[in-house]
Amino acid sequence: MLNLAILISGRGSNMEALLRSIDEGQIRNVRPKVVVSNRSDSPGLNLAAQKFGVSTYVLSKGKDKTLSFDDELVQVLDEFGVRPKTGVICLAGFMRILSPRLVQRYTMRILNIHPSLLPAFPGLHAQRQALKYGAKVSGCTIHFVDNGVDTGPIIMQRAISIFDSDTEESLSQRILEIEHKLYPEALRLFSEGNLKIDGRRISLID
Ligand code: GRF
Repeated sequence: MLNLAILISGRGSNMEALLRSIDEGQIRNVRPKVVVSNRSDSPGLNLAAQKFGVSTYVLSKGKDKTLSFDDELVQVLDEFGVRPKTGVICLAGFMRILSPRLVQRYTMRILNIHPSLLPAFPGLHAQRQALKYGAKVSGCTIHFVDNGVDTGPIIMQRAISIFDSDTEESLSQRILEIEHKLYPEALRLFSEGNLKIDGRRISLID
């Protein structure tokens, strides 16, 4: 069993997809221990507590990248039993960069979801970037977190077409639908030990 922490900053629809897949038994090796947000007004916090009965925690150290923020996060993860060897951390719309120290502590155990086909359009407003660039396909990426912004080894990707009629909203909505399927699938594969890691290349073990 892996102990799971989900880090959010807002709505939490990907968090919900992960928790639902665990609840419904599609992911069997993962126990949700805590949902952490850096914002007390994240709607995802109530959802986690009320709909899924998962503990929640609001990080109190504000928005700057300080050592104390990091220390607090490590402490919370530790308290909830999400430890480097037996834990897994899913970032789901978490709008902060984790410090190299934390990333190092949980090497290849932090997953993130990003709404583009990386390495295209990293960072903020990925859907807007794709439209502005004139890309004809986009999608979503699940990857391990390293010290860059959206640069870690890719676990899974799914592509969708961009239509001439698309707006940022319509594209975001269609990407979100595939995000909700892909993220639980990636967590399941990780939790079952079905990912073979060879440098940046990650493949499935049959
Ligand atoms: C998603 O589009 C995710 O890919 C990105 O932030 C958004 C979070 O949405 N990292 P939600 O909070 O999971 O609904």
